[in-house]
Amino acid sequence: MKPQLLLAPLQSYTDHHFRNAFQQVFDGVDQFYAPYLKLEHDGSIKSGPKIDVLPENNPYEPIIPQVMAATAADFLHMSSYLTDLGYTEINWNMGCPYPMVAKRDLGAGILDKPDKICAIIEEILPKMNADLGIKMRMGYESTADILELLPRLNDYPITEIIVHARYAKQLYNGGCDWERFKACIPLTKHSLCYNGDITSVKEFRELKLLFPEIRRWMIGRGAVADPFLFEMIADDTTDYPTDRYEVFQEFTDLLLESHLNHSNDGNALNKMKSYWEYFSEAFDDGHKLYKRIKKAKTLSDYSTVVNEFLESEVEYVYED
Ligand SMILES: Cc1cc2nc3c(=O)[nH]c(=O)nc-3n(C[C@H](O)[C@H](O)[C@H](O)COP(=O)(O)O)c2cc1C
Repeated sequence: MKPQLLLAPLQSYTDHHFRNAFQQVFDGVDQFYAPYLKLEHDGSIKSGPKIDVLPENNPYEPIIPQVMAATAADFLHMSSYLTDLGYTEINWNMGCPYPMVAKRDLGAGILDKPDKICAIIEEILPKMNADLGIKMRMGYESTADILELLPRLNDYPITEIIVHARYAKQLYNGGCDWERFKACIPLTKHSLCYNGDITSVKEFRELKLLFPEIRRWMIGRGAVADPFLFEMIADDTTDYPTDRYEVFQEFTDLLLESHLNHSNDGNALNKMKSYWEYFSEAFDDGHKLYKRIKKAKTLSDYSTVVNEFLESEVEYVYED
């Protein structure tokens, strides 16, 4: 069974700049998800994510947009913006773990309130003019919430349930609860997608053995750190392509160009620095490289450091 691979939404990282540069250079992703839309205090949709989902910013594969809402009215406000843009499936974020969000029943804050979740679903489904998918953690204070929620979600026509196998209070600490995820598989009739901590082909293979029933896999931080990961998993190989560094250079150049088209040099430089915090993890001695990149004061400093590094790695491969 060939796995279906999904790029996770990561606010500030997997936006259209990343998704578009990725698709010009890499392969292996079956479905792209956009980071969540949310409402500002004045009831308007936050502008960054609103612009991110505009069709003109997404010229490649279709994306699935996501919303974060704790009432049917807020959900429908954002879903009508999205369906007007032509989207036919919308993902509900029940995963964001941060207390400021969760205390208002947004994101993962709603996971221990199954009655509220079902009431919202019953109200939005007939009105939203699109299919509904869910991306969730396994619970708020523990991974047990999902055991009550999943059977109840069987009553509704939901396209898929993506599960990040942690509970919210963990934030990103500790491991994923694989035992609990395994227990979830027979509880749902919906398509279940595994998400959490896949950072290498080896780890993916281990998880595939652990959950042979699972067909869909979502990857976030591991794929931002190493965008080759998807095609390597899809091809079931641990070998990078021989032109790894040239391809990566092309990717980072496209990413920078895209940011420069929308922003000034300083903002583009900061964006690239934040990407490199992840990218550097995929290289030996990456932390040293990241330190040098962080010190760059101008785009020209940045390019010198990055080009020097990637070109030296190319020479190293050819001499090897
Ligand atoms: C910086 C950052 C931003 C994120 N933004 C979103 C988001 O907009 N929507 C969402 O559902 N999850 C978001 N997540 C969670 C990821 O989609 C994913 O569920 C989580 O990182 C676990 O998967 P991973 O271990 O493969 O990264 C975010 C995570 C991080 C680290």
